[in-house]
Amino acid sequence: MSTFTFTIIKPDAVRASNIGNILAMINKAGFRIVAMKYLKLSEQQAGQFYAVHAHRPFYSELVAFMSSGPIVTAVLEKEDAVASFRTLIGATNPAEAAEGTIRKLYAANVGENAVHGSDSDENAQIEANFFFSSLDRF
Ligand code: CMP
Repeated sequence: MSTFTFTIIKPDAVRASNIGNILAMINKAGFRIVAMKYLKLSEQQAGQFYAVHAHRPFYSELVAFMSSGPIVTAVLEKEDAVASFRTLIGATNPAEAAEGTIRKLYAANVGENAVHGSDSDENAQIEANFFFSSLDRF
């Protein structure tokens, strides 16, 4: 069954001019782009988006990084989208990411790891709703 996931191309990947390379990999892997935006989060908005990690020691670093420059957010559709996309992006820590994955190719470290991918259908819905209304989806 066709399902949805949510992704962010993070500030490090945007700064490194990797938006095009990453979108090409996403398309080549068979995802359909349902919605997409180029924007910059305020610290407050980044803190709100990552509120589930508020108790983690790296939270303030994460919020500062995610509000440090523009990002691309998108909703992606494919069969088994969440799991399929997590395979495409590789492990959270690029040092542990498989060859040929987006993070292996384009991420520097666990904090600046080029892309975000939802970890469940439920979170994909919540995260997509943070950035997009039903009118933004095609
Ligand atoms: P993401 O999938 O966007 O969701 C939470 C983020 O927290 C994760 O990607 C990582 O970039 C970040 N993160 C996880 N562990 C660490 C860490 N030890 N130090 C800094 N950032 C981290």
